[in-house]
Amino acid sequence: MEITPERDRMSNLNARQRLRLISPSPDNPLATLADAVRAGLTARPKQLPCRFFYDAQGSALFEEICSVPEYYLPRAERQILESHAQEIVELFDGRFTLVELGCGNAVKTRLLIQAAWAKRDRLLYIPVDISPAMLEKTCLALLGDFPGLEILAVAGDYEAGLACLKIACEGPKLILWLGSNIGNFDRAEAEAFLARVRQSMTPADRFLVGIDLRKAPSILEAAYDDAAGVTARFNLNILGRINRELDGHFDLGAFQHRAVYNDEIGRIEMYLVSRSRQPVGIAKLGLEISFDAGETIHTENSYKYSPDEIAALAAASGFTVGPQWFDAQHLFCTTIFKPQ
Ligand code: TRP
Repeated sequence: MEITPERDRMSNLNARQRLRLISPSPDNPLATLADAVRAGLTARPKQLPCRFFYDAQGSALFEEICSVPEYYLPRAERQILESHAQEIVELFDGRFTLVELGCGNAVKTRLLIQAAWAKRDRLLYIPVDISPAMLEKTCLALLGDFPGLEILAVAGDYEAGLACLKIACEGPKLILWLGSNIGNFDRAEAEAFLARVRQSMTPADRFLVGIDLRKAPSILEAAYDDAAGVTARFNLNILGRINRELDGHFDLGAFQHRAVYNDEIGRIEMYLVSRSRQPVGIAKLGLEISFDAGETIHTENSYKYSPDEIAALAAASGFTVGPQWFDAQHLFCTTIFKPQ
């Protein structure tokens, strides 16, 4: 590897000096756990927004989900990125900036950083994640491994992510949205979100989106209800979080995780089901919530797409479908969305 002066300068800075971490304050009132819990648990049917899964414990449990055998998504996506990282970074001639919406532990992003790094003397990475603890850990690990990497880390939600797309930086942007996180929006919301991303892009920017495909219900239901019960613990952790942060009195053993695939709509629906009739107090909210036996809290949807649905989504949100890759078993699809 040739050491250019720039590379040399960067590698003299330690990891901390190459990291700027910012936490913009959310302007959406429902962005606070307290307000979301009050609104969601007094609604009928009861629901909780999935963004609150990811506190430090939830993010750690999600990492664990990513290695259970039934949850094929990260392995399929990794296979695609392993095979095509080179092609992806070659979409750009010179320098580009890498932005990632919801980076998590960024293990798959490493493949792209590695490929970009081989040809460039520096790279700016702007990861956005809802979990500040996860974000900091991820960034320090990356900076330790890639001496020329510079990171502007943003602890925030997708609104913060959209704001990051407008940051002026050198060269075009490659925006990543991996892990089929798009599936946690309903189809209309996904289209609206893509249109907003499009609005913030220049013609030279590219948007790389990992999307889980429609497939046999048995494969999907196993993926969201693994035999070791990690997904169940992940789903239940949202009640644990309410206990920890809002002085709630949920007995986690009194609720059950349920995942069902609705083939017609093409989505996995995730619920927490009350095993009995029970009242649950949430002290900091001054609330007592009553549950019937079998009553559900809807915690998440995970929408699946067919290739035709991906093409229609792109067209409806101002994009054309660029290069597109599948894993060997056609479980997962990685698509480059190009501004129309
Ligand atoms: N974004 C992930 C997905 O839809 C989140 C997820 C995986 C999840 N397993 C879960 C959310 C179980 C709730 C419960 O695949």
